[in-house]
This record gives sequence, C-alpha cells and structure tokens, in this order.
Amino acid sequence: MKELKGYLEANKQRFLDELLELLRIPSVSADPKHTGDVRRMAEATAEHLKAVGVDHVEICDTAGHPIVYGEKMVNPKAPTVLVYGHYDVQPADPISLWDSPPFEPVVKKTSLHPEGAIFARGACDDKGQVFMHVKAFEMMVKSDMLPCNVKFMIEGEEEVGSKNLDKFCRDNQKKLACDVVLISDTSIIDHQTPSLTVGLRGLCYMEVEVSGPNKDLHSGVYGGAVANPINVLCQMIASLHDAKRHVTVKGFYDDVEKVSSKERKMMNAAPYDEKRYMKELGVADLMGEKGFSTIERTGIRPTLDVNGIWGGYTGEGAKTVLPSKAFAKISMRLVANQDPHKIEVLFQKHFESLAPKSVKVKVTAHHGGWPVVVPTNSVEYKASEKAMEQAFGKKPLPQRGGGSIPIVAMFDQVLNAKSVLMGFGLDSDDIHSPNEHYGLFNFYKGIETIPYFYKYYAEMKKK
Ligand code: BES
Ligand code: MN
Ligand code: MN
Repeated sequence: MKELKGYLEANKQRFLDELLELLRIPSVSADPKHTGDVRRMAEATAEHLKAVGVDHVEICDTAGHPIVYGEKMVNPKAPTVLVYGHYDVQPADPISLWDSPPFEPVVKKTSLHPEGAIFARGACDDKGQVFMHVKAFEMMVKSDMLPCNVKFMIEGEEEVGSKNLDKFCRDNQKKLACDVVLISDTSIIDHQTPSLTVGLRGLCYMEVEVSGPNKDLHSGVYGGAVANPINVLCQMIASLHDAKRHVTVKGFYDDVEKVSSKERKMMNAAPYDEKRYMKELGVADLMGEKGFSTIERTGIRPTLDVNGIWGGYTGEGAKTVLPSKAFAKISMRLVANQDPHKIEVLFQKHFESLAPKSVKVKVTAHHGGWPVVVPTNSVEYKASEKAMEQAFGKKPLPQRGGGSIPIVAMFDQVLNAKSVLMGFGLDSDDIHSPNEHYGLFNFYKGIETIPYFYKYYAEMKKK
C-alpha cells in the first residue's frame, strides 16, 4: 500500500483543486431554479468517473434529478462494492450568515481543523465525501491495485428524500447487484477518535394545517370570541411532549428497540465533552428526554421536532389580525423497529384528536424513511473496522448516528446488500447550516482509508 501513499502525497493539491471546482456548482436539489445546475453537477461527476477509468458511465434520467452510474468489473470472482453517495446539496439559505459565499469555496483553519477546512455548501455533505471515493479509485486503478469490482451510483435527490432512486433500484436490480454498499455520508467522533456509523434514524415528516374562521379577522372586533388557529396550533404542539420530554403521540414508543444496558454503557464510554458541546452551540443548557444521555438521545431515542411554523402577519411593523389559518412542519426521527408508515397514521390520528371543535385540522405526510441498524459481526463491518484501524492507528468505535439516509434500508430490502457507513465528517462541520465545511485532514484520511477497505474486504471475502 506504500505506492498508494506516495500517489496521494504527489497528487494532494490536484485532488483538492478538482473538488473545489465541483463545489462551485450550486446543485441544490430542492430549488427548481437550480435544476440546470443539478444536471451540470451530474455531468461533471460523470466526467470525473470517466477520467479515472470507470467504464460504462451514464447519466440516468429519472422523473426528477438524474442518477450517475458507472462500473469497473475487474474479476468475476472478486466481490463487488457499490459506492453510493449524493451530488445534490441543501439550499444555502440564509446566505447572509455565511462568512464567504457558499459556492465559492475557500480553505481556512479552525480550532477543530488546524490543517484547514474547505468552506462551501456540500463540502462535507456529500460532495467532498463522494469525491474521496473517486480519488481512492483513481489511486487504486493507477497503481494497478483494485482488488474488487466497483459500481458507482451517485444520486441527485438525497436531500429531497431520494424519491426516484427507489424505483431506479427496483428496476435495475441486476445491474446494481453487489456484495456490499459503501457509503461515506456520516461522521467520525473526532480526528483522534475514528468511528463507524452503526445506526441511522428513520424519518416521518408531516405538515399540519389548522383552520379557524373563513377569513382573517380584526383581532379586536373578534378576538376572544373566535378560536385563533395560531394559538390553538401552539397549544396542540406544546402538548406533543410531556414534562419528561417524552413524545405523547399515542403508541409512539410501542415498537422502539430496547437497547441493552451493556450497549448503552458502551455508547456512553465514547468521548463526549458536554461543556464544549454546549459552548459550540451557544446554549446554556441542554434539553431532551429524561433518563437518557445526549449520545442516547440522538442515537437510540426517537424525537419529534417542529421544523417550521407560520401563519398570520409576519411582515414589517404590527398588524392586528386574527388569522384564518396556521401551519407547521413537524418531523419525527425514528429508531430501530419503528415503522414510518405506522407512525404517520399514529401521528395523524393523535393530532386530529387534539383539535378543539372550533378549528379544523388537515394533516399530510411528506417523505419518510426507515431506520437502520448495522450489525458489527459481519465481514463488511470487520473489513471497514480494519481499514480504519490501519489508517488512523486506532480501532474505530461503533456509533449510532442521529441523521437519516432513507435509502439505506431499501438497499437491504431491494438489493439484499448490507451497507458500510464509513463517513469522515465531524458533527460540528455545519452540514445543512451556514459555513458548512470539510476538513482537509478528513478528506485525505478518507482517501487513504478507502483502499484499505477494498483490500481487507477482498481478502476476508475469499476466506
Ligand atoms: N448525510 C446526511 C445524513 C447524516 C449526517 C447522517 C450526519 C449521519 C450523520 C444526509 O445528507 C441528510 O441530510 N439526510 C437527511 C434526510 C432527509 C433529507 C430525507 C436528514 O437526515 O435530515
Ligand atoms: Mn448526506
Ligand atoms: Mn444532508
């Protein structure tokens, strides 16, 4: 593997420069204004795959944004790795809170990234992490050291729920046949503490509408006599948690996996500095479900959060109005064994039951996704563990991530393949926030680690 290290050293700057170019493309999947940019990003991704020697590279059109696919089959007897990632990014808003423009990448040092970090939307989530796979592949091909068959499937709709990837996978089961799915779209604990993600939360995303009077009213003439939908909505939302911060939706916890005290102990042994955590977030205290630590609250417990709430007058100055309608977007993060469809129904029933007769409520569902638990006794896990240990000089800790990648559960069901969640970001990299960044250390460490995975996976599969 010495030749690979030499190759990486010799090409570091070029790898970085190439990534910076990709970060200039505003491939925001949620915003129709950027549809052309999303396609440009698909094309640029395809060009990079071709340039490093991936065969049969194609841009597969879907009902939404395209999927970039390509493969390199080196040996029918060797195992096949399907690399999954996404080239789309979250909207950059609010842009005024960025220290530098979101699509004009700059490298700056930070306290957690003393070697420097790339600041741009998508730097960590997920362009930087996808690009590590492209460059690791380049190194292996150029050094004649690619021990596995590789398939790349890079999508453009992860940030909007992977709506069309599901169908693509079902329609292309043969083409996508593989032994393992390799994904870098998660975090490590810190530079000195490598970790592998062994759980992802599921998601159930709802929107609610509360309607009162058939038009906006004068809040003096009618106020006090007619239900105010915003007041009512706030009360309904407030009742969704009890004093111990449990979610009150009936049946919400019925299927939640009970994690053994042994595993809980292990989770809580991971390094975590609560004071620093609060300081970084600018909060004087934390808040969450009673009886669970922060690591448990984000790793093994389901949650309910309001993502947005609106209605009435929000313009400049004051307008005295009793609004006709109020709205909120409410999401629930789910954990192992919770069924997003079932939770959707439970939430709808519960929320409707909360409404007083003076208002009407409408509950609709947005995207959802199943939670994921990754076994740690599989060949793929052992190979990724060994790869990280080799690169970091330390065995990685298994860690449950709080975020969601809804499509991972589908890989298991449709492609019958387990996923390795070997991400290299930090939770503090501000993904989805202003000033998203990705450490140069993390970028290069990822490129170094990936070929070890291929090596150990091929060896372990042979046995
Ligand atoms: N890469 C993230 C998910 C993630 C981040 C998992 C950090 C674990 C640690 C992914 O791009 C993401 O943002 N997912 C969305 C899913 C949604 C848009 C359907 C999420 O978690 O909100
Ligand atoms: Mn991502
Ligand atoms: Mn994301």
